[in-house]
Amino acid sequence: MAYFEWADDMVIDNGPIDEDHRKLVDLVNELHTATREGKGRLIIGRLMERLVADTDEHLRREEQIMALAGFPSLEGHRKGHDAFVNDLRDLQKKMQEGQVTVAAQLSMVLRDWLSIHIRRNDKELRCFVEKQEREKRRAQLALKG
Ligand SMILES: [Fe+2]
Ligand SMILES: [Fe+2]
Repeated sequence: MAYFEWADDMVIDNGPIDEDHRKLVDLVNELHTATREGKGRLIIGRLMERLVADTDEHLRREEQIMALAGFPSLEGHRKGHDAFVNDLRDLQKKMQEGQVTVAAQLSMVLRDWLSIHIRRNDKELRCFVEKQEREKRRAQLALKG
């Protein structure tokens, strides 16, 4: 069983958001394996760099998708993203300063945050889009009489 297991209840859009999430899940597993196997600081450092960069890129892409969809809770959602990226950068700095245990901590922080954030917060986008689609269908039916 993987350290961070993808599950169907994490599906948000059957599209670019899920693709990003899956890539992040894979990367977290990679980092976890690398730290467990005691891989060198260079390898772990590079993996962490990729994780922080890919996470940041994903969060910005997700915010764009949310803005396009007219998602009403975007501001609060964005604040959560920003706070998380700041935490990640702090951890990364600690790691660069020589605290090797931080890498293991990072895979845990990422797994737990992502798993909760996707299931609770990103899921709100899915609910919002589904609600809009239901309303659109209802309006179309009403038009047809
Ligand atoms: Fe996300
Ligand atoms: Fe998000």
